[in-house]
Amino acid sequence: MKALNNNNVSKKQLSLVFVKFAVCFLLFGLAYRLFLSNFQQFSQIEVNDTAFVPDNTLSPPATVSQPPVTGDLPENVVDRTLQNEKCDLFIGDWVPDPSGPVYTNSTCYTIESHQNCMKNGRPDTDYLYWRWNPRDCELPRFSPKKFLNLMRNKSFAFIGDSIMRNHVQSLLCILSQEEQGDEVYHDKQFKSRRWYFPTHNFTLSVVWSPFLAKSTIFEDDDGVSTDIIQLHLDKLDDDWTRQFDSFDYVVIAGGKWYLKSTIYYENDKIVGCHYCPGKNITEVGFDYAYRKAMNSTMKFITSSKNKAYTFFRTTTPDHFENGEWNTGGYCNRTGPFKQDEVDIGYVDEVMRKIELEEFESISRTESADRLTMKLFDTTFLSLLRPDGHPGVYRQYQPFAKENMNKKIQNDCLHWCLPGPIDSWNDVMMEMLFTS
Ligand SMILES: *[C@@H]1O[C@H](CO)[C@@H](O)[C@H](O)[C@H]1NC(C)=O
Ligand SMILES: *[C@@H]1O[C@H](CO)[C@@H](O)[C@H](O)[C@H]1NC(C)=O
Ligand SMILES: *[C@@H]1O[C@H](CO)[C@@H](O)[C@H](O)[C@H]1NC(C)=O
Ligand SMILES: *[C@@H]1O[C@H](CO)[C@@H](O)[C@H](O)[C@H]1NC(C)=O
Ligand SMILES: *[C@@H]1O[C@H](CO)[C@@H](O)[C@H](O)[C@H]1NC(C)=O
Ligand SMILES: *[C@@H]1O[C@H](CO)[C@@H](O)[C@H](O)[C@H]1NC(C)=O
Ligand SMILES: *[C@@H]1O[C@H](CO)[C@@H](O)[C@H](O)[C@H]1NC(C)=O
Repeated sequence: MKALNNNNVSKKQLSLVFVKFAVCFLLFGLAYRLFLSNFQQFSQIEVNDTAFVPDNTLSPPATVSQPPVTGDLPENVVDRTLQNEKCDLFIGDWVPDPSGPVYTNSTCYTIESHQNCMKNGRPDTDYLYWRWNPRDCELPRFSPKKFLNLMRNKSFAFIGDSIMRNHVQSLLCILSQEEQGDEVYHDKQFKSRRWYFPTHNFTLSVVWSPFLAKSTIFEDDDGVSTDIIQLHLDKLDDDWTRQFDSFDYVVIAGGKWYLKSTIYYENDKIVGCHYCPGKNITEVGFDYAYRKAMNSTMKFITSSKNKAYTFFRTTTPDHFENGEWNTGGYCNRTGPFKQDEVDIGYVDEVMRKIELEEFESISRTESADRLTMKLFDTTFLSLLRPDGHPGVYRQYQPFAKENMNKKIQNDCLHWCLPGPIDSWNDVMMEMLFTS
């Protein structure tokens, strides 16, 4: 099969990245403190307003002497198999599309309030009129009819963090033009949910598993953390593995929870931590943990007797500018970037590199030949959409008089619905139908 260097950004740009990277690396020690305090509390974006309460129960970093990740330039050496013979769906640009979204806040009733930008009063609408345009082929619009017919008698699960939920909501909204799913299950916090589409005997699930590996998270219902997370790198999260055999299709991904303060275990023994000042445990970097967990996740899937059609999604970038989520960062752009207007951030570059390397490594194993496992490489197309996040419109009418005294919180990580994440489904559909 033909392969393509998947990140066809020019050499020139790479060397530019390298220079920036070197500078970044020097500044990193300084940036690290801010950065940590950002992600240590990342879960607070997850559930609802109260969930933004700052995590003040963990002591702030004393001094952090080492960056969490080893500092060689992530290379784009990993080849990716083409989705079909002539087209890499993940290389392209966003082009104007006057047809606009296929649903709105008034036709889809299930949009989570923090992503319901229209309802919350976002004034600009240009961000709705773009479509993803792969360089070498036409990407058709998602067809709910075709999708649901393919899914007759099937079960489809999205496994991961709140970005997975964001993705599922988009899919639900798109499908609702054809058939409305009935919610048949939700957990206490509405993090894991399941819908049934009776006409097509189709089951759609989202399974909350932000690490994919087995973790103990000490958070109360408001998302306030009371102790450092414990993560078992050699054990997977039973919440998804025990259901895995019932899934015919799976989208799965790791994500930003790996940046939080965490103690790592292997064989039930502490092997290190990420950001645990005062604990006398060796900092091993989130990349160490992320690689192990991605590796065992892929191993589990490829060696499972259930041959689920699996999309392995790459990291999703945020677009906080001039600060992080808790230091005044915001995202108020109203249109996409062009390819040369933006570089991937350090963390996303590290994560994506691990994802691609582990995917490549598992793809070479024999057990991977038994099933269809695809890299769902949405990182770059998402990186080009700084305009697609709720920003301040994660809350209802943030500038209304009655909210004058409330602190305005920006969300530059999740995506407005409708919004650019709808295109993920167009790409997913195309992958399903060209294989
Ligand atoms: C949808 O958003 C508009 C503003 O764009 C608002 O006027 C309308 O009430 C919203 N509809 C629903 C059902 O939330
Ligand atoms: C779905 O299941 C029903 C009942 O088992 C069966 O009659 C039907 O042929 C199945 N359809 C497809 C597309 O598999
Ligand atoms: C629904 O699909 C399942 C397989 O997932 C099948 O066992 C069952 O018979 C189907 N039910 C109907 C009513 O088609
Ligand atoms: C926010 O979370 C709390 C606790 O989990 C829950 O009681 C409340 O209903 C939630 N509010 C919304 C708007 O989801
Ligand atoms: C830190 O851990 C090392 C090795 O386990 C131990 O020798 C040392 O006494 C510990 N230091 C403190 C302050 O607990
Ligand atoms: C975005 O916000 C910044 C800071 O508040 C402001 O200077 C800038 O003009 C805003 N840009 C847009 C497009 O609204
Ligand atoms: C990841 O998995 C591959 C094969 O599946 C294995 O060869 C490699 O050693 C693993 N890497 C790590 C860091 O565990």
